This record gives sequence, C-alpha cells and structure tokens, in this order.
Amino acid sequence: MDAVVKEEIGAFRGRGLWAVILGGSSGFGLATAKRLARAGLNILLAHKDPEGTVESVIAPHFDAIRREGVSLVTHNANLFDDEERGTVLDGIAEHAGPGGVHLFMHSIAAGACKLLAEDRTPDFRGIALRGLAEALAAEGSPVEVAVLRKAVNTAFHLKGCDALHTLADSRIPYREELLGEDDLKRTVWMMGYDHLLWGRELLTAGLLAPGARLVAMTSEGNEIAWKGYAAVSAAKCALEASSRAMAVELAPYGVRSYVVQAGITDTPAGNAIPGFDLMKAQARIRNPFHRLTTPEDVAEAIHALCLPGFAWANGEVIRVDGGEAVSGA
Ligand SMILES: NC(=O)c1ccc[n+]([C@@H]2O[C@H](COP(=O)([O-])OP(=O)(O)OC[C@H]3O[C@@H](n4cnc5c(N)ncnc54)[C@H](O)[C@@H]3O)[C@@H](O)[C@H]2O)c1
Repeated sequence: MDAVVKEEIGAFRGRGLWAVILGGSSGFGLATAKRLARAGLNILLAHKDPEGTVESVIAPHFDAIRREGVSLVTHNANLFDDEERGTVLDGIAEHAGPGGVHLFMHSIAAGACKLLAEDRTPDFRGIALRGLAEALAAEGSPVEVAVLRKAVNTAFHLKGCDALHTLADSRIPYREELLGEDDLKRTVWMMGYDHLLWGRELLTAGLLAPGARLVAMTSEGNEIAWKGYAAVSAAKCALEASSRAMAVELAPYGVRSYVVQAGITDTPAGNAIPGFDLMKAQARIRNPFHRLTTPEDVAEAIHALCLPGFAWANGEVIRVDGGEAVSGA
C-alpha cells in the first residue's frame, strides 16, 4: 500500500497502543491528542479546567477524538495533587496496561509569570509618542500625546497593525505581586522535572511500549529572558536537562526522549503571559513565514516523531517554529 495512504489510514490503527497526554484539553496537548487519534492511537489525557468550560468548550473536541474510532479516557484533575496523580496513574495502568503507552507527552502550563523586581525600564513608548507628537506639530498637524496613544492602540489592537508593537500598550499587564519563592518552586517542579517523574514512573510500572516516545514542550524563553518569565524559563532549562538525562538513561529500555520548542502560539496559557499580545505581533513580523505557530503545526511534528521510522533522534530539542528562533528580522 502507498505509504502516504497508509499514514492517512493511521500508522497505529489496530495496534492497541496509547498516547498519554498531560495538559490535553487545550493548545498543543489537545491538538496532539486529535492528530494521534487520527493515526489510531488510543488517548488518555489529563487536564484541569472548570466543569463549565469542559461542557461548553472542551467536550466537542473530545467528541471529535472519539469519532476517530479510538478509546478516549479523560481525567479532569489537578496534577499538583498527589491523590489525583495516583488516580491518573491507575487509569493509565487500567486502560493502556503493560507495554501499552507509545507516547507520553507533558504539556501542562501552570507557571507563575511575575516580575523579579519593580519595573524600572525607561518609558520608551512615552518618549516615542511625545517625539512623534512634536514632529507632527512641526508639520502643522498638532495632535495631543493622549490622542496619539489612543490611535496607536486602536490601530494595533483593532486594525492588526503589528508593526506598532513597540508603541502600543499591552492589554495583558504585569501582576502587581512580584515572583515569590513558592512561585518558583511550583513552576520549576511542574514545568521543569514533573515530566521526568512521570516518565520514570511509567517505565518502572512497565507501562511504556518498546520504542516509546517521551515528549515535553519548551519555548524560546529557554535561552532568552522575557520579562516576567523567570520561573518558566528556569523550568524550561530543568525540563531540557531532564529530557537529556532520560534520553541517555532510558535508551537501554528502547525509550526516546525529545523536547519540542514551539514558536509563539495563540493559546490560553500564552495569553496569560504579560505582554503576550505584543509578543505575538513581534513574532508575526520576525517569523520567516510571518505567522504564528499553531498547535496543529506542533501536533504534526509530534505525530512524525512517533512514527517507527523516526527512531534515531534522541535527547534533542526540536524547534517547530517556522524558523522564528533563528530569525534576526
Ligand atoms: N503558547 C506558546 O506560545 C508556547 C510556546 C512554546 C511552548 N509552550 C509550552 O507548551 C506547553 C503547553 O502550553 P499551551 O500553550 O498548549 O497551554 P494551554 O493553556 O493551551 O494548555 C495547558 C494545559 O495544561 C492543563 N493544566 C494546567 N494546570 C494544570 C494542572 N494543575 N493539572 C493538570 N492540568 C493542568 C490545562 O487544563 C490545559 O490542558 C507549556 O509547557 C508551555 O510553556 C507554549
């Protein structure tokens, strides 16, 4: 059978294998669940959402997964909680069973995005707007700075003028409280090395399939410091180190370990980052393809690295961003 046709039918159909996705109700986790269901993997996913959101927003996506003819098991659980973690692990053992998990993906976004210290960045926006107002007055078209600011914000937020991202005000402000030690601990634990804890747990419980893939998500904030992103940035470094360690220590069990570095993507977690509206505009300009990354871009990549033929990369940070991170534009 033609390879492309076979892949469309589903590389994993009928093999009884599972994908376990933590953070599977939204963004990258949900898109990956849908893509892998189409490929024939059964899906067990955990997430934490209000019941109302599950009913009105998430349930139709879960229905779409079931329509692919695979099993879907969901746990709405706070995975900071030991008891709920135990329930999810029991669910994996019950449904996937020994050697049943082909993909384990950690895609939980639960990080504190707060500043380290009071923001003392010079008011570049104010300086630029005042300079522009003066220049307009010199041209015989005087405009008050407040009017100019309003017009800039309207053009940016309502008319899609991305190039104004250095002048517009973000609608996602920084929190008043500064980053605390507890914020750091929780963020680095959940988004940094929880992936390793789950990977090892699944291995020791005998739940990973031969050739299983362990995948987690990182961002460009692993190397550059976005303001308010310190805790998540620290977590990403821990995550990448954990993934490298798993790549080496779990290879004798046939397990491959990857971290996918997505470009800026419009998701609920992204939109909780202060200034993310400005970051999205900047990304659309800088990205060589002049668009944001989508969850589906990432899901396609994760599907590809689940395929049997993609077996020799291990311990990699794989960028799936259209070239955004390498673009100096
Ligand atoms: N959005 C971006 O631009 C971007 C870019 C690169 C990397 N990432 C990373 O991708 C990962 C997923 O982010 P996303 O943008 O898809 O976010 P998202 O908001 O779309 O999804 C987050 C998921 O985490 C779940 N979750 C949150 N707290 C939880 C908890 N306590 N217990 C169980 N589940 C919980 C949510 O229910 C949801 O399913 C994160 O690690 C994030 O840092 C995001």
